[in-house]
Amino acid sequence: MSNFSTIYNRRNTFSVKWDMLDQIYSLEDTSDVLSMWIADMDFAIAPVIKDAIHKRLEHPIFGYAITPDEVKSAMTNWVLNKHQLTINNEWILFRQGVIPAMAEAIEVFTELGDKVLIHTPVYPPFTSIPQNLGREVITCLLKEKNNSYEMDMEVFEECLQKGVKVFILCNPHNPGGKVWSKEDLKQMAALCKQYNVLILSDEIHSDLTYKPFKHTPLLNAVEDVSNIITFFAPTKTFNIAGIQAAASIVPDEKKRKTLEHFAMTRGTMGLNIFALTALQAAYEEGGPWLEELMEVLSSNMDYAIEHLSNIDGIKVVKPEGTYLLWINYRDTGLSEPDIMERLLMKGRLALEPGTKYGVAGDGFLRMNCACPFEIIQEGVARFARALE
Ligand SMILES: Cc1ncc(COP(=O)(O)O)c(C=O)c1O
Repeated sequence: MSNFSTIYNRRNTFSVKWDMLDQIYSLEDTSDVLSMWIADMDFAIAPVIKDAIHKRLEHPIFGYAITPDEVKSAMTNWVLNKHQLTINNEWILFRQGVIPAMAEAIEVFTELGDKVLIHTPVYPPFTSIPQNLGREVITCLLKEKNNSYEMDMEVFEECLQKGVKVFILCNPHNPGGKVWSKEDLKQMAALCKQYNVLILSDEIHSDLTYKPFKHTPLLNAVEDVSNIITFFAPTKTFNIAGIQAAASIVPDEKKRKTLEHFAMTRGTMGLNIFALTALQAAYEEGGPWLEELMEVLSSNMDYAIEHLSNIDGIKVVKPEGTYLLWINYRDTGLSEPDIMERLLMKGRLALEPGTKYGVAGDGFLRMNCACPFEIIQEGVARFARALE
């Protein structure tokens, strides 16, 4: 068994989650604040990854790195075994992160002022990246159902009719934890094809699904894959976001060549040696660790849901994927500033306010449950105390 119960002090480790609380929440003293916001885990990485990095460290020279085919094969084999997705090594363009890869695709395949479609609520960079690149963001409201979401194809088509160039899909969906079905994906992709829209499919949470839900890669839901770019990464799955590694999967040769050329004009191709080493170890040997992790996450979720649901006005359901709980507090009658103030000042608990994911997230909080069980217990107790 791997160790998922040790509590590590992550303060003073250059951690966004623990060392930026004062800035993010405008607090002077955050030494007693429990951090359950940004999506990284408070678990030690898989020993196989640590060992691989240790081994690489034994060689004392960290010169320029190549992008070896065997590392690409590690990813190719992972997506085949995990998601029954067949890709070619040559489709893989390694990038520092999903966000840089997505930004690159938007920059390459759209022009200033072009329209980029996203669902809402959704992960905030889906809005900020296109906007910062001078693109116009069109939002398509997801339909709320039982504290989760559905795609409304009629609304989606109306949005496409506004002259959209690119649609960014989040699958599984952050923050709602929805694992989109093959049928959803088929319908969505058919509409995008009809309106000649490029789909950027962010599948960074794809390995983190709970039984019986299973991720369907968009590339497996459609026949014509020429207008799809998928992003995969081992970073969310294996808690190595600080090492930075991701890939764009680009089946269409012309698009791939265009992206490769763009990266060469900026020197952004390839991964550093630690990212290559970690990615290879994770994908080749991390499977058993991930299975244990999913058991731990699942029971953390169950505990948190059971106890949060006992609080007046709180509704929460288990996500189909991701380690993020999307908590509906609308029936408490509290506004977002009120509940955030209570959580932070009375509970000393840092969660994410739903409107960070768009106005459609109003009335929700996002809680990261990827931490040792003791922290889950403490977090839930603090939540209850804050609302007393
Ligand atoms: C949907 C989604 N995409 C991308 C990222 C970040 O990806 P990266 O760190 O590889 O840039 C996150 C992180 O939370 C995410 O939730």
